[in-house]
Amino acid sequence: MKNIIHAVIPVAGFGTRMLPLSKSVPKELLPLGNRPAIHYVVEEAIAAGIKHIVLVGHAQKSAIENYFDINAELDSQLRHKGKDKLADSLNWLPEDVTVSMIRQGKALGLGHAILAARPIIGEHDFAVLLPDVVLDPFTTDMSADNLAFMLDAFAKDAHSQILVESVADEHVHKYGIAQLSKDYSDIEDQVEVNASFEVAGFVEKPNLADAPSRLAVVGRYVFNNQIFDYLANTKASVGGEIQLTDAIDALISGYGVNVTTMRGNSYDAGDMRSYMQAFIYFAERQLADDK
Ligand code: G1P
Repeated sequence: MKNIIHAVIPVAGFGTRMLPLSKSVPKELLPLGNRPAIHYVVEEAIAAGIKHIVLVGHAQKSAIENYFDINAELDSQLRHKGKDKLADSLNWLPEDVTVSMIRQGKALGLGHAILAARPIIGEHDFAVLLPDVVLDPFTTDMSADNLAFMLDAFAKDAHSQILVESVADEHVHKYGIAQLSKDYSDIEDQVEVNASFEVAGFVEKPNLADAPSRLAVVGRYVFNNQIFDYLANTKASVGGEIQLTDAIDALISGYGVNVTTMRGNSYDAGDMRSYMQAFIYFAERQLADDK
């Protein structure tokens, strides 16, 4: 099996939970410390071996594409002023990495956004990274971390991998929640190592009473290409949207899907309260490193 080198990052959402910050600045470009949030997500993908990143965007999100492009005018102006180091730091994307952008058109949900990347991804298997979720880049080595583990696990048995982490009861209603096929309670709370095991299904944003576990979908996925066929046949459900979770349930019955338990910490940068906490954490870490 070929290594996975493609990743889809959906960036079309308006970010209503981040207003007014996200009114004229895409939420993905809001700062976490000294970089925009999506910078860390793209770095994470590259560290795991991804070479082609497909952003699924919207007319008002072209600033994201520009962030990953070389601004030739700014580059030459900085170099003219002798600020070569600063200019170099802006062109950090490795030469063998490509960032493409395709538009979602209609805002019909996360599942629909992933399907919009199909003309670029074609027949390849691929990863998906949701940019609202940023994994802690300070305490873990990203190149040997969650996404890299998931890609390895996929290469072994071709089971799609969904990253999950244990969440507190009051957060269950915000996430896709895993239904496990066996009792894995001994490893559910294990945060030091990754573990991958089969999952029976997912329930999208359940009430606490209906939640089949406390393992929440974090926003990192590795998919068999067949997910596109299932997405193409998925009807709108929760929130009137075409849900990725529903297509995953269909994929489980056809091909088998595993959850990977997450190592380290994740930060939700798509929710104002969590975003502010994440900003403080990132800023403090970077200020400490600057000393
Ligand atoms: C999406 C997914 C959900 C997942 C969450 C992670 O929801 O549908 O399963 O748990 O991302 O952030 P959203 O936050 O886009 O509503």
